Amino acid sequence: MAIDYLRLSLTDRCNLNCVYCTPLEKKGFLRHEDLLRHEEIARAVAAFVKAGVRKVRLTGGEPLVKKNIVGLAGMLREIPGLEELALTTNGLLLAELAAPLREAGLDRVNISLDSLKKETFAKITGHGTGASAGADAFDRVWRGVEAALEMWPRGVKLNVVLMRRLNDAEAADFARLTLDRPLAVRFIEFYATNERAARLGDALVPTAETRRRIEDALGPLEAVAPSAADGPARVYKLRGAAGRIGFISGRSDYFCGACNRVRMDCTGKVYPCLFSGPTHDLRDLLRRGAPEEALASYIKKIFLVKSNHRKDAPGSGHIEMSSIGG
Ligand code: GTP
Ligand code: 5AD
Repeated sequence: MAIDYLRLSLTDRCNLNCVYCTPLEKKGFLRHEDLLRHEEIARAVAAFVKAGVRKVRLTGGEPLVKKNIVGLAGMLREIPGLEELALTTNGLLLAELAAPLREAGLDRVNISLDSLKKETFAKITGHGTGASAGADAFDRVWRGVEAALEMWPRGVKLNVVLMRRLNDAEAADFARLTLDRPLAVRFIEFYATNERAARLGDALVPTAETRRRIEDALGPLEAVAPSAADGPARVYKLRGAAGRIGFISGRSDYFCGACNRVRMDCTGKVYPCLFSGPTHDLRDLLRRGAPEEALASYIKKIFLVKSNHRKDAPGSGHIEMSSIGG
């Protein structure tokens, strides 16, 4: 499988504080001088594209808290050879930013939303109706979903992580959203990847159980023919539905062999796999003014490391989603 998909984490900051993600003890944020500047990010991405990347997804932390994200998206969209620029966001700032991001050329948006109930949303994200949220956080996210559907009528996915005892009863409510909206709702199996997530105990809701809950409430799920755009998700439809339902089953389905992605964090460290540490660092090369050719050939070497890694069993262990963005 060719590596043609780069997940680019733009910041380790986030404006939510989710129970399975934000580290228990924040070690403080990265220092400004450690972060790649916009121009450095653009040069790195151009080199990734030269090395074969066709699709870039902006992640975080929360990518929309990155300063001048609209300008950065526009810069990246202009890189020749880049076919798709996408974003994964918690949606809090999306109502305001959807239109300018669309204007800047963003092609698609995935929104992380784990509950449709305000109380549960507050419990999971640490942000409810209190002063800390400014306005009601759930309502802001929902306005973000609506704005996104307006800007990208066929390009919005909702990512839902179901957790035992927290939101596992909401599977059918999320699935129901696809009946009359052209949304893809994707259920992602929970990974306990840091100490905070581990405190949730046996929170995993296996895909088979989620499917059963949906089918019991809403009828059979019909398989949709797999397409390259689905990534690791297996995709289905409820009868007559406008949208789709996907399952990303990292825990119960082994999909490393089909993995086509690499990750770079906001300091220029490159992760060949979500579960590997960073194995390479582009920042020095970028700051020394290495030409695009040199960067691209360095990146191709990283792709080779990944090809070898892929033959191993899937990794596991400690990762901070908040700095590498899932
Ligand atoms: P699409 O381009 O719309 O398919 O998005 P995506 O699924 O690539 O991106 P998104 O940011 O929406 O991520 C969805 C979930 O898939 C996240 O929980 C990721 O952690 C998980 N995921 C993405 N890539 C991998 C991977 O390589 N391995 C594993 N185990 N999980 C992954
Ligand atoms: N387990 C499963 N999914 C996770 N995500 C973040 N942390 C975890 C975890 N521990 C998901 C988010 C987001 C996507 C990028 O990764 O919900 O939608």
